[in-house]
Amino acid sequence: MSGFTKVSVHPDGGAYEILVGADIIRASGQQIANVLGQRRIFVITDENIANLYKTQLEGSLTGAGHEVTTVVVAPGEGSKDFSSLEQVLGDLLRQGITRNCVIVAFGGGVVGDLAGFAASIILRGIDYVQIPTTLLSQVDSSVGGKTAVNTNLGKNLVGTFYQPKLVLVDPGLLKSLPLRELRAGYGEVIKYGLLSDAPLFEWLEVNGGDVLRVDAEACRYVITECCQIKAEIVSNDEREKNSRMLLNLGHTFGHAMEADLGYDNRLLHGEAVAIGSIIALETSARLGFCEAAVPVRVRRHFQSLGLPVSPPKLKDHRWVPENLLKHMARDKKVVGGKQILILVRSIGNAFVYEEATREILAQSWEERLGGG
Ligand code: GLY
Repeated sequence: MSGFTKVSVHPDGGAYEILVGADIIRASGQQIANVLGQRRIFVITDENIANLYKTQLEGSLTGAGHEVTTVVVAPGEGSKDFSSLEQVLGDLLRQGITRNCVIVAFGGGVVGDLAGFAASIILRGIDYVQIPTTLLSQVDSSVGGKTAVNTNLGKNLVGTFYQPKLVLVDPGLLKSLPLRELRAGYGEVIKYGLLSDAPLFEWLEVNGGDVLRVDAEACRYVITECCQIKAEIVSNDEREKNSRMLLNLGHTFGHAMEADLGYDNRLLHGEAVAIGSIIALETSARLGFCEAAVPVRVRRHFQSLGLPVSPPKLKDHRWVPENLLKHMARDKKVVGGKQILILVRSIGNAFVYEEATREILAQSWEERLGGG
């Protein structure tokens, strides 16, 4: 094999590899055969990815001796719900899926979470492979086995921990992404620097523009770095009992904004995480855990790359702290009435804060909603 970079993940749910490299789609049939043998494969993807890459992926899979059926869902967060899940499960069953088949999740975070969830429950669980196509899914959601759908009561509230057998990452796929999607994915990239890797943050301050221009070497480097951090965390704490919680930096505030908008594309998940990270850093500074210069520095970096730092001004929506607090109260990360937040002591040094009261959270929203 190739010039692919290998990152190993070894959670309790089963070890697997992430392979990162240019043109990995063309090698995907062989890579899957190497790990799982020749199988009947059900590719789950969305319309956008199907239009761009379906033929190429199917060619690689059939070329390596797999039998292939592709199931296509609508693009966007709206597909991560019960009705899409039911439709996908119905399609798979009608087309004769058996326990020996493999699901390939081919798309961004929505497809990965939906297809992973389907794989974990259909016929009580079958093998699946992730081939992520967005920056966000390549650095985060395709690794670690979190699967989910959203409900009216909140994001990712129904799902499973179910590890893939292989993750194939082709940074070249990012070339077809709109800049907005790339910036949204960058929100998750920066998270790794902020939570545990100050040199990565410093590298991004210098080279972040190259990542957004999809420079091949910059993307390969940064995706591998992020996957390595994620692999280590997930290998030690698959079920988010301790260190995996750190990966939720920016997410508690971010999910509240997404829920307030009903998960539509006025705010992408990665954009919500970027804004949520700024709020988490400002909260860290206000509570005296880190220097006031930390959120200022990170905000400056985001703004230099065109990432959002505040909830967007929308003509048909008003951000009200009270409403956002209600969404936060439904979050998975509320324990004994206290909100669990991920805060930082410095860039690269995050920790779990278990004492966030309603007043603290209200101040955080007011500060950012009134801030620049
Ligand atoms: N995206 C956060 C996690 O995988 O734990």
